[in-house]
Amino acid sequence: MARVFILYGVNLGTLGTRRPEVYGTLTLGDIEGRLRERFPEVDFEFRQTDHEGEMVGFVGEARESAGIVINPGAWTHYSYALHDALEAVEGVPKVEIHHSNVHAREAWRRHSVISPVVNAVVAGMGPYGYEAAVGYLLGLLKV
Ligand code: DQA
Repeated sequence: MARVFILYGVNLGTLGTRRPEVYGTLTLGDIEGRLRERFPEVDFEFRQTDHEGEMVGFVGEARESAGIVINPGAWTHYSYALHDALEAVEGVPKVEIHHSNVHAREAWRRHSVISPVVNAVVAGMGPYGYEAAVGYLLGLLKV
């Protein structure tokens, strides 16, 4: 069974109530339920933290997995620690994901220090983006 890590970073624990007009009304639990239902063949590990060091640990744990889908939240824009942690997990495909289209918002959100060390970036698809990202990872396993 393919093991896939879904990692949510800083402030994403409040999904569902935090700025629903930007991030939607689904909670992390709702997104988890949808993914488990859609991909019963995947062994998911869902994690959320507001602590950068803890997230670095989660990334390290995913070393032997089939893939990482990570929404780093605001860390996207400045966390070199997370950049380095992801870069170090060589050979594991990674997708950076954002609910919102970060390119259509404030200028500072257009820059990601994470994008150079991932295989793909999804932005603006809302919660559906996680399904797209997992579909991509499973596709890689079949190639
Ligand atoms: C986000 C976009 C980030 O700029 C922001 O800091 C977040 C959420 C998104 O999912 O759209 O916390 O990653």
